[in-house]
Amino acid sequence: MDPFIVKFSYGDEIVRLKLDLPGKSHPAEGVAVIDSTVRAEYDIPASTSLKYLYQDADGDLCTLKGSTYEDFLAHATGGEAYTLKLLVRVAQTNAQEAKAPKDAGLEKFEEAEPDHDWSLIQVAEVQNKPMQAVAPDYLGLGSAKSKRFNVCVLGMAGGIGQPLTMLLKMNPRVKQLTGFDIAPFTPGVGVDLSHIDSDSTCIGYFAPPGSGDEELYKSLEGADVVLIPAGVPRKPGMTRDDLFNVNAGIVKNLVAAVAKVAPTACILIISNPVNSTVAIAAEVLKTRGVYDPRKLMGVTSLDISRSRTFVANLKGLDPAKVNVPVVGGHAGTTIVPLLSQTSPKVTFTDEERDALTKRIMFGGDEVVQAKDGAGSATLSMAYAAAVFADAVMMGLSGKKQEQCTFVDSSITPGLDDRSEAKFFSSVCTLGPDGVEKVHKIGNITKHEQELIDDMLPTLIEQGKKGAKWAEENDCPGI
Ligand SMILES: NC(=O)c1ccc[n+]([C@@H]2O[C@H](COP(=O)([O-])OP(=O)(O)OC[C@H]3O[C@@H](n4cnc5c(N)ncnc54)[C@H](O)[C@@H]3O)[C@@H](O)[C@H]2O)c1
Repeated sequence: MDPFIVKFSYGDEIVRLKLDLPGKSHPAEGVAVIDSTVRAEYDIPASTSLKYLYQDADGDLCTLKGSTYEDFLAHATGGEAYTLKLLVRVAQTNAQEAKAPKDAGLEKFEEAEPDHDWSLIQVAEVQNKPMQAVAPDYLGLGSAKSKRFNVCVLGMAGGIGQPLTMLLKMNPRVKQLTGFDIAPFTPGVGVDLSHIDSDSTCIGYFAPPGSGDEELYKSLEGADVVLIPAGVPRKPGMTRDDLFNVNAGIVKNLVAAVAKVAPTACILIISNPVNSTVAIAAEVLKTRGVYDPRKLMGVTSLDISRSRTFVANLKGLDPAKVNVPVVGGHAGTTIVPLLSQTSPKVTFTDEERDALTKRIMFGGDEVVQAKDGAGSATLSMAYAAAVFADAVMMGLSGKKQEQCTFVDSSITPGLDDRSEAKFFSSVCTLGPDGVEKVHKIGNITKHEQELIDDMLPTLIEQGKKGAKWAEENDCPGI
């Protein structure tokens, strides 16, 4: 069998490390062979042997003892939908000091094998996932060893809801999938999905408007993650803000139900205008005493998907390997792609930059116009929401993820002392309690700063509009 190659970061550099894993049935710990060029380059003495441990899906440290080569490869080659961390340590087989690790995680090693005289030299990401997750590995309908979750989609029968629930049904991280919609055929959507041979259940609940909330409540029982794509979409010529009057009430009622039945669930708002509906959701949760800013996220992952695609298409790259943080909000000019932070590093002429920025800001309009009155983005949105929901679940299960999302934030880029933009999208670390850290936007160009400064009043206004509407229209009687 071919030696297994992992990407291995050493200091600031990424190198390749070749691991020869001996034997099929693995002995205690395997011996890893460092590629001779790497050995020479980093001055790793020939007498140094490596042993390796890996972090499994639950974050536990495992040696290869008792596990087989096939097991290891199954983890390592992405058969599972999580990032395997291969932790490599250099044995002190001679007097030479192994280079001290900077990386966290050493304590876990010490706990695992306190008597061992090893140094962690690096943590190698076997699946070197980019900042924003791309198509999850789950499309092969694998089985998950990691924690599994109850997921509910409110607006299940819609243009987004149906493909979204299908992608979630295929995700092995999902244990129980439910949904609710006011469309009478929603139970049928549930039955249809329940025939997919993935290891999860699926039920669709329906109730016509004004007939009580019992079915809605049933759909939410035990939910860990709730996605809300319920509401009306745009028609040509409409802005997202034009949807406010209808969707505000829908989001208010649905979030009130989440507050009552699943108050600790992560709530992922898709219904537009996200710049306002997230603020409405926050107010509804606050009024009911269950607001946890870490658990409320506006879904902006379609802006990320578009950015990666448009940049990659222009530059002849693989979209899955391109990362472009998108900050601000989720409507027109409030969507600010930080093209200067594109990775891998790409350069743009001013014309390219302006055209790309405009296309990313107004990418939704392209779809609305092309569908000619039949709605807005549904399939790409479902995909982007499924990717984001997967990252949220990974975070909840302890495997931290970095994603852009629209959250309660005190960072106002470049103007850190200002906090008027209460809700703002930037890269966030998703962890076991939801949003663990909201990252500042880092270095940006003067042009990007201007885009942010120019749109900030609009973004602030749209957030305030949502909060004010909730104050005037929310009657927390339920
Ligand atoms: N965040 C984003 O990036 C993004 C992208 C595209 C669309 N959207 C928004 O997502 C929303 C849905 O879009 P769509 O194309 O799926 O629309 P759609 O009309 O196809 O589906 C909406 C569904 O919501 C249901 N619904 C309406 N009121 C409801 C209620 N009170 N309870 C439960 N379900 C209810 C409808 O019956 C319908 O099935 C729109 O507001 C749209 O603007 C957001």
